[in-house]
Amino acid sequence: MAEQTDPIKLMKQEVGQKAASLVQSNSIVGLGTGSTTAYAIQFIGDRLKAGEIENIVGIPTSFQAEVLAKEYGIPLTSLDAVERIDIAIDGADEVDPHFNLIKGGGAAHTREKVVDSLAEQFIVVVDSGKLVDKLGSTFLLPVEVIPMAVTPVLRALKALGGQPELRMGVKKAGPVVTDQGNLVIDVKFDDLSNAEDLEKTINNLPGVLENGLFVNVADRVFVGELQDNKPVVRELQKA
Ligand code: 5RP
Repeated sequence: MAEQTDPIKLMKQEVGQKAASLVQSNSIVGLGTGSTTAYAIQFIGDRLKAGEIENIVGIPTSFQAEVLAKEYGIPLTSLDAVERIDIAIDGADEVDPHFNLIKGGGAAHTREKVVDSLAEQFIVVVDSGKLVDKLGSTFLLPVEVIPMAVTPVLRALKALGGQPELRMGVKKAGPVVTDQGNLVIDVKFDDLSNAEDLEKTINNLPGVLENGLFVNVADRVFVGELQDNKPVVRELQKA
């Protein structure tokens, strides 16, 4: 029972439901990764089952999203089979006032960036704890790297002023391995005010696949928060 009243869970459910309500019939939907988006996937499946919407196909951003979509009855397709993505719903680890994001807490940021960037509308779903004045305040920047390049990339990230560390597994010995079979380096940068340049600079390092800076990608941000102990959703206004 304690789980049901967990305020963070309630905020995530509410904001996931709000995003799912924006999905219209005949849409191709990018399905994000993480605990908040999981609720959106569940609610899209519920709406399909209830006949509220029809003819939806999802493009998953991770193995997790694929498993959830199958569980909740959302048909899936791939980028080879479609010419557009109408809407993508995805979580974030940090959101700044300009709607720039850090993502990759679930090590899925490479596929997330492909899908979220292609979407006509990219909807971000977060709880209020994810809002920051400056990127990098609470979360390290994830960088996906091919395994043979880890050591030179660690060195290069240090040379860029970062403090990098290889992400290690929990309840699994050794490093986290992404859905693509790569590794993740999490980097602490004291200053991420140059996010747009840094995103490109890091991606230019040989061996780097993608980093978790999402600059000018998000269209709308929905925030779940508690008011008088009740979960409510508000749409964030861009600064
Ligand atoms: C995965 C992500 C997630 O969207 C991000 O970590 C947020 O997850 P959650 O909703 O569980 O807090 O970027 O790579």
